[in-house]
Amino acid sequence: MKLRDKVVLITGGGSGLGREMGLTFAREGAKIGVNDIRPESAQNVVTEIERVGGSARTFVADVSSSTAVKKMFSDFLAAWGTIDVLVNNAGIGRTRDTAEFSQTWEVPDEDWHKMLATHLDSTFFCTREALKAMVSKRSGRIINIGSIAGTTGLPFAAAYCAAKGGIISFTKSVAREVVMHNVLVNCIAPGFIETPMTAPIDEAMREQIIAVTPAGRFGEPADIAAAALYLACDDSKFMVGQIISPNGGYVI
Ligand SMILES: NC(=O)c1ccc[n+]([C@@H]2O[C@H](COP(=O)([O-])OP(=O)(O)OC[C@H]3O[C@@H](n4cnc5c(N)ncnc54)[C@H](O)[C@@H]3O)[C@@H](O)[C@H]2O)c1
Repeated sequence: MKLRDKVVLITGGGSGLGREMGLTFAREGAKIGVNDIRPESAQNVVTEIERVGGSARTFVADVSSSTAVKKMFSDFLAAWGTIDVLVNNAGIGRTRDTAEFSQTWEVPDEDWHKMLATHLDSTFFCTREALKAMVSKRSGRIINIGSIAGTTGLPFAAAYCAAKGGIISFTKSVAREVVMHNVLVNCIAPGFIETPMTAPIDEAMREQIIAVTPAGRFGEPADIAAAALYLACDDSKFMVGQIISPNGGYVI
């Protein structure tokens, strides 16, 4: 087992990539804190992990709120005493329940702020709390979930791309800062993966994406969980501030 008795917190762990990482890490012996803003989603994943013999509990919080994150970490550390791995994964694909594309010149302030807060503020808030515990014990891993949106850009998604680009730069900066404390910070920048987030993409758009993806398909959540497991375990102890991008060749 690659993560025996490691204590892990996964934000947005109630769905898609977060769920898959939770199940994968649990199979490798980790205890999983499943954060989500949706209590029932977090509970469902905890139940799934327990059903396969793993250990997990929910930590319901809106990670875009600094106050909520502070409380979540205090509850987490009270429950499990430490944190070995943080995965900053919580995210949203759109700020409104509409399939419409947003032209950048039409994006309202609140949509911009919500996108940045959900991805970038949350990554900072959770990293800050995790580092307090990790630096003092001189051990830890932080895995940030970026996106190809942050490396190559996508049209009609400026706020999402800015947030993901920010996460990539944040990763590189913090990685340089804390490696001396034996805390390793890295990032995964997935391409298009089949999850509830990408389910609203219509058939025509899906075909266009697949046409420019040399692998000829969307990725599976397991493609990302495998990269996350690598970054969480001892196999990656020389990885510092790196961006791993499982994307089927969409970006080469
Ligand atoms: N699916 C893809 O193609 C893809 C590609 C690149 C990057 N990503 C990124 O991967 C991450 C996971 O995406 P996914 O595809 O699994 O999406 P998903 O919608 O299946 O899961 C995201 C989870 O985050 C939770 N969440 C949202 N806002 C939150 C908040 N403020 N506090 C706590 N939880 C919150 C949601 O409730 C949901 O359970 C996101 O950061 C996303 O941007 C996804």
